[in-house]
Amino acid sequence: MRETYKKIHVSASGSYDIIIGDGLLARLGEYVRPLLGDCRIAVLTDSNVDALYGDRILSILSAAGYDACKYVIPAGEASKSAENLLAFLDFLARNRFTRSDAIVAFGGGVVGDLGGLTASLYLRGVSYIQVPTTLLAAVDSSVGGKTAIDIPAGKNLVGAFYQPRLVCCDTRLMDTLPADIYRDGCAEVIKYGVILDAALYDTLQTPPFDRIETVARCVEIKRDVVEEDEFDNGKRGLLNFGHTFGHAIEKLSHFAVSHGSAVAKGMVIAAKIAPLCGLADIVEPLTALLGRYGFDLSCPYSAEELYDVMLSDKKRRGGKLTLVLPRSVGECILVSMPVEEVFEKLKAIEI
Ligand code: GLY
Repeated sequence: MRETYKKIHVSASGSYDIIIGDGLLARLGEYVRPLLGDCRIAVLTDSNVDALYGDRILSILSAAGYDACKYVIPAGEASKSAENLLAFLDFLARNRFTRSDAIVAFGGGVVGDLGGLTASLYLRGVSYIQVPTTLLAAVDSSVGGKTAIDIPAGKNLVGAFYQPRLVCCDTRLMDTLPADIYRDGCAEVIKYGVILDAALYDTLQTPPFDRIETVARCVEIKRDVVEEDEFDNGKRGLLNFGHTFGHAIEKLSHFAVSHGSAVAKGMVIAAKIAPLCGLADIVEPLTALLGRYGFDLSCPYSAEELYDVMLSDKKRRGGKLTLVLPRSVGECILVSMPVEEVFEKLKAIEI
């Protein structure tokens, strides 16, 4: 009989399981108990997830014997703020949460990043559990311990590496995702295929993909990268394929272009730059695949506009940016280049 869930173990500065399966939320208490024993749990979630599943997660935890409460933030990137970080910390303190209590981050990337950062700071560190509800959070942000908030100067500029105690991914929760939010996650899935796994890339050719198998494969790839380079000094940079240009597009659009759509556009720009660096030309198969998932790959910004924003990229080191460029489908490399050279390449391609 086919396995109904997958378990992937991560050994980093914290070690933990990532459990992926259909209907797993109902078993959350069962998974938490051996890790945390008796404790109080603050569930951080957003208004969208709360409306659909807020009462359910509290009753699941309370049926498992937990004293659980909920803290709800408005849905959207604007909630990944210093104000919400402080307000949630204050909520925990006013409710007398102690070091042995825990946070469950129940939502997409905003909730996961804010919940994780709060956990790293409250009483100098409490346990947290990621329960991702979007495809993007399942394959990327819930895994690997990057936590952050945005500040006016930029996205994710304040954060910490802080690993969760468990990631519990119930793929059934994705059934209620709006199509555009689900598609955002598909961009990250395709990214994993291009950077490190040609076989995964092949399985994505005819959507829809098998959700449990695909999420598990992406998580395995990310686990391997994080175990090798948890603190982002080398190989972890591969996970940024399409992101340097994608972040610039998101920022120029004032976040009207979603993360996944921006990454899709960014991956195509990176693919167009690769042949100018003597690397493979995968533009045609990549654009065809992204098109099959419904991505609009047009970029409304000029080389000058992209360059201007990239100058404030947090990943810039001195006068250089590290681009992730394909050597072939399934193999990308990191290429460090002066920002002026990136500008020249951007001007040389049709964006
Ligand atoms: N999202 C990229 C990383 O976790 O490194």
